Amino acid sequence: MAKANDTKNRIWLDYTDLMADAVGPAHGISQAELDAEIPRMQGISWRLKKERAEGGLAFMNLPYQKEWVREIEKYARSLPGNIENFVVIGIGGSALGNIMLHSALNHPEYNLLSQEARGGRPRMFFLDNVDPDWTTSLLEALNPRRTVFNVITKSGDTAETMANFLIARAWLMRAVGKNALCRHIVATTDKSKGHLRKIVEAENYPSFIVPDGVGGRFSVLTPVGLLSAAVSGINIRRLLQGAADMDMCCQADDPRKNPAALNALLHYLLDTLKDKKISVMMPYVHRLRDFADWYRQLWAESLGKETALDGRRVNTGQTPVKALGATDQHSQLQLYMEGPFDKVLTFIGLDKYPKETRIPRAFPDMEGIAYLGGRSLSELIKAEQQSSALALAKNERPNCAIVLPALNPHTLGQLIYMYEVQTAFAGALYNINPFDQPGVEQGKKYACGMMGRKGYEKYKDDVEQSSARTRRTVP
Ligand code: PA5
Repeated sequence: MAKANDTKNRIWLDYTDLMADAVGPAHGISQAELDAEIPRMQGISWRLKKERAEGGLAFMNLPYQKEWVREIEKYARSLPGNIENFVVIGIGGSALGNIMLHSALNHPEYNLLSQEARGGRPRMFFLDNVDPDWTTSLLEALNPRRTVFNVITKSGDTAETMANFLIARAWLMRAVGKNALCRHIVATTDKSKGHLRKIVEAENYPSFIVPDGVGGRFSVLTPVGLLSAAVSGINIRRLLQGAADMDMCCQADDPRKNPAALNALLHYLLDTLKDKKISVMMPYVHRLRDFADWYRQLWAESLGKETALDGRRVNTGQTPVKALGATDQHSQLQLYMEGPFDKVLTFIGLDKYPKETRIPRAFPDMEGIAYLGGRSLSELIKAEQQSSALALAKNERPNCAIVLPALNPHTLGQLIYMYEVQTAFAGALYNINPFDQPGVEQGKKYACGMMGRKGYEKYKDDVEQSSARTRRTVP
């Protein structure tokens, strides 16, 4: 067991059931297979440290960037009491982290609480799609005079984000006038590049910076994720402290003492030696369902690559799948248990749930339900997680668990940072660049071409040629 540290409030990884002695040699990793990689992992650890020391891997230093924290907290405190809605406009790495922090750390029904119960803070919304029905319906439900938009885009010109921003800006302008826009819009973008930065300067919006060298999916611990978190009352200092504490654990060059390195190595070996092409993340914590969504982007966009660093065509990457315990036991577990041997599962469990409730005793003569009476819901959900893990292991299905002693900003900060570093280690193992996304860029170019952006005519032609083909359809 690779426990981050034995201090209270530390998360840990239990990888017992990823090993061959638990799930058999065909589907689990033997001690010899693991040991054989230790020198390589030490080399990777040294390399990452060197890169960081030379100013690379900027995401690793985010837990220590305290100057933003003060600015962000100041902005959050200065938000007028009449602001009842805070709407994040962004997409991908400029939204998923915000959503994850909100659903993990705020009240599960936050927006239904009275403003007083929310500590006077606004309701939170996250507009990360361009479905016209959603954008229109959200605006219909809000009062522009009482709404602030946080538009987030590192590049400053992502089509989805800028389209929603332009719609929101025009909607605000009709209600409050152009001069008041700066009281209803706050931007998070690059310090100098991109169209949004130019607009910020022209229209005088308050703004925050996405730091250089931090890619979207690694940016949750920058103003990208921290601003909306602070506005909703999340203790962002504790979040960063959790990340900093995990950074200490991730310094160990021996992967057996470093949870991020070990989990990267085990997943890499399961993929490359045991054909586990799918990585399912299944929190047994309802509040962490969006953590699984955030992980899905991090693992997919970082590791799904065609070309290795040496130029070879490799087409790497495990497919991350999001599931939720216990809900998906009644939807997905049958497949995980008896379907193809192509998956490795990660459960996320909690020692202590934020709230507890007992199941009332009733119907004593109905043994089929009476046994539940007097037990707690946390006993039930933990029993479900343990039973799924055991049944999967007995069926030779590798699975591991990350356990949080409690769910709070400090433990979530550890979990986020561990996965970010794990992704950097995995990138090095696959010998690819985990920090770019050339495949996404290609799709973005086609979309710009179709929407008539100057300079993208060639991409429009490609799309038109493709749509001119005879389509095979069925009514
Ligand atoms: O991880 C990434 O880099 C991407 O998912 C981006 O976050 C996403 O494409 C949005 O980009 P931007 O922040 O430039 O609008």
